[in-house]
Amino acid sequence: MSESSEAMALRAIGLSKSFSIIGGSKLDVLEGIEMELKEASSLSIRGESGSGKTTLLNLLARLEPADCGTLHWGGKKINASENPHSKEATWRAKHIGVVYQSYYLIPELTVMENVLMSIRLSKLSLKDYSDRALGLLEQMGVVDKSRQIPAKLSGGERQRVAIARALVNRPKVILADEPTGNLDERTGAEVMNLLLNCCSNEKTSLVLVTHNPNFAKATQESSVLKDGKLFYT
Ligand SMILES: Nc1ncnc2c1ncn2[C@@H]1O[C@H](COP(=O)(O)OP(=O)(O)O)[C@@H](O)[C@H]1O
Ligand SMILES: [Mg+2]
Repeated sequence: MSESSEAMALRAIGLSKSFSIIGGSKLDVLEGIEMELKEASSLSIRGESGSGKTTLLNLLARLEPADCGTLHWGGKKINASENPHSKEATWRAKHIGVVYQSYYLIPELTVMENVLMSIRLSKLSLKDYSDRALGLLEQMGVVDKSRQIPAKLSGGERQRVAIARALVNRPKVILADEPTGNLDERTGAEVMNLLLNCCSNEKTSLVLVTHNPNFAKATQESSVLKDGKLFYT
């Protein structure tokens, strides 16, 4: 672990999380996670189903509190066990992009409106970002779909839109949770290449949860989540 968090996009120290389960017992999912993600770098996380990968991303994204631990998001130090407060939602929209396995596009909104969602949430000017949104859709190869609603798009196209949405705010970090998990092999490989290239072009760091060993090798650093701990491999 480095002394300074200056060149780090994200650092987690001693993150632990357990869940109460039926019968009153406790399921210890994460037990003192130590993680570092340098600026403009990429890290893959593998691990068996149920090992806690999604839980870890949720803690990093401040979608739920940890039992204990600290996060450094760039220069900002966060007590991870505090409940995320409402002000953090705006901060989150500005600094973190999230890509999910099931895309989570808003069905009633057009592709373009979906991509501009975090701009709206961060109270930035939609007009200032519309060229950037179109540029990202272009890079993702789906600019011709900008006025469509998600139901008209294939799975691969929806995930391309979700990646453009995650990047539009120029976040420091993208957290991607099995982003190709719902796609066939060829589409998955295309989408993964776009995600890796786009993050690299934009100098956005990437945390990539994936089951695919080839994708895990494509990131600068690799890790495995096992027995509640993260091992760099
Ligand atoms: N809200 C919750 N309440 C109780 N148990 C949970 C909750 N969320 C996750 N779990 C449990 O924590 C473990 C890790 O889940 P998860 O982080 O989704 O794993 P992964 O993403 O690696 O498949 C699983 O055993 C899961 O059932
Ligand atoms: Mg998961």
